[in-house]
Amino acid sequence: MRALHHTILITATLLAAFIGGLACDAEDGEHEGEGDELPKVDCQSVEVPRFEEMTVWSRCVGCHSSGLSGAARQGAPRDFNYDSHDAALFDPFETAEVVFEGEMPPAGTLTADEKAQLNAWVQCGTP
Ligand code: HEC
Repeated sequence: MRALHHTILITATLLAAFIGGLACDAEDGEHEGEGDELPKVDCQSVEVPRFEEMTVWSRCVGCHSSGLSGAARQGAPRDFNYDSHDAALFDPFETAEVVFEGEMPPAGTLTADEKAQLNAWVQCGTP
C-alpha cells in the first residue's frame, strides 16, 4: 500500500513538472517576435541615423506613400507608409523584418549599408 502511494506521488510530481514545462514553453513563445530575427545592434557604438538622413525610404515610397491610394499603391497595405517620420513609426520592427527577410522591396536589392542603417534606426529608438 505504501509503495502504491509513493508511485502515485511520484507520478503526480512528474506530471506537475511536465505541465510546468509546457507552460514555460508557451511563455517563451510569447516573447518571440519583435525583432528576434534581426541582427543585434549595439546602440552605444553605432551611429544611429535620423529618419531624414536615410536613403532607404526612397526605395519604398513608390508604393508606400500616404499620398498614394488605390491602384497607385500597387497593393501596398494602406497603413505602411514611409514618406514621413510619423508614418514610418507605424510598425518599425515589421518594416525591418520584411527588409531583412528580403520580401521588401519587391524588386531590386538594398545595399548592406541601407539595411544596417534601417536596423540601427529600428532598434535604437527610431529617431
Ligand atoms: C512596387 C511596390 C512596393 C515597393 C517599392 C515596396 N513595397 Fe512593401 N509592399 C508592397 C505590397 C504589394 C505589399 C503587400 C504584399 C506583401 O506583403 O508582400 C507590401 C507590404 C509591405 C509591408 C507589410 C508586410 C506585412 O507584414 O503585411 C511592409 C512592412 C513593407 N511592405 C515594407 C516595405 C519597405 C520598407 C519598402 C522599401 C524598402 C517597401 N515595402 C517597398 C509593395 C511595395
